[in-house]
Amino acid sequence: MTAKMVYIAWSPRYSVNHALLDEQHQVVFDTINELFEAIQAKKGEAVLLPIFRTLVKYTQTHFRDEEGIITAVKYPALREHLIEHAQMVNKTKMYYQEFKDGVYDSTQMLKFLKDWWVRHITESDMKFARLLG
Ligand SMILES: [Fe+2]
Ligand SMILES: [Fe+2]
Repeated sequence: MTAKMVYIAWSPRYSVNHALLDEQHQVVFDTINELFEAIQAKKGEAVLLPIFRTLVKYTQTHFRDEEGIITAVKYPALREHLIEHAQMVNKTKMYYQEFKDGVYDSTQMLKFLKDWWVRHITESDMKFARLLG
């Protein structure tokens, strides 16, 4: 028996002091892990496409909710944050399109998703954590 490998693991150091946002960040991690596992298991389009669609949709849901929350607390760097989110939505959609076109590099994509989310939460989201809770 081999232990199930988690590609992107949640840690309390990622907490932004807000239960809903922490929960949503964990759902994003879970979805990336699902994608990783399906790719490792060499699953086909029938399995991968719905996971990609969930990732794109859920990324948008999370950003919309987070933007509402940080607008409400008058986060001063809102504009920059919105730009980071919009760029990530485009990038996630681009990977989805590349996957559909059969031209994507799964290793590079997974690394990008993992690095972006960890960096965004620890460096960007963390800046508004003190305004929440
Ligand atoms: Fe964010
Ligand atoms: Fe976030």
